[in-house]
Amino acid sequence: MRVLITAGPTREYLDDVRYLSNASSGRMGYALAEAAVAHGWEVVLVSGPVDLTPPDGCETWHVETTAEMRNASVREFPRCDGVIAAAAVCDYKPKERVEGKLSKTGGPVTIEMIETDDVLAELGAAKDGRWVMGFALEARNPRENALQKLRRKNCDWILLNAPTAIGSADNSVELLAPDGQTLANWSGPKAQVAREIIEWIAATQDPRSKIQNS
Ligand code: CTP
Repeated sequence: MRVLITAGPTREYLDDVRYLSNASSGRMGYALAEAAVAHGWEVVLVSGPVDLTPPDGCETWHVETTAEMRNASVREFPRCDGVIAAAAVCDYKPKERVEGKLSKTGGPVTIEMIETDDVLAELGAAKDGRWVMGFALEARNPRENALQKLRRKNCDWILLNAPTAIGSADNSVELLAPDGQTLANWSGPKAQVAREIIEWIAATQDPRSKIQNS
């Protein structure tokens, strides 16, 4: 099994020194990469800027902006059997990146923002037999919104979690299928949740496990 994992936040620059981002630590994605390597899988990690060391034995591409994450992911996905999109991607970016440094105006400023690329939606649209697992970070109507996201991004499954997961050492996730069925619930330290997710994928998708289980 060869898996692509996206992890961490992305950054969108207003000028050469200022950016918009979020508080993602990258811990969930890195824990998944570690669990997948420990399971004997080949791992391609596309990581936004985080303060973590990638696990030994995984191929890592360091990116900063959403466009860079999109380009690395779209390039690597065809060589993989599936993707887990754990990155907390910026949804918007300033319409223009100002060269140098914006100066104070003495009054309020308005920044026009446009949507970034949706990395997972693009991978889902091009999956062609590969499996696709997304995350859904939901504050309101969690199940309904997560299922809409799953369908919109052509995922096979989506892991529903709450905004409290961002930057935290623990996580609590619900694995949803396209028909709305709950396939599993896992909670605890991110390393443990990651192991359970990888074991679940291995048991249902990994040809080696299927042979061993039959
Ligand atoms: N995602 C992505 N590219 C984006 C936005 C999100 O690949 N531009 C992925 C995330 O990695 C995650 C899934 O899509 O696996 C859902 O992310 P989430 O932030 O919950 O949803 P959004 O699509 O950003 O929608 P919204 O913020 O409106 O809830």
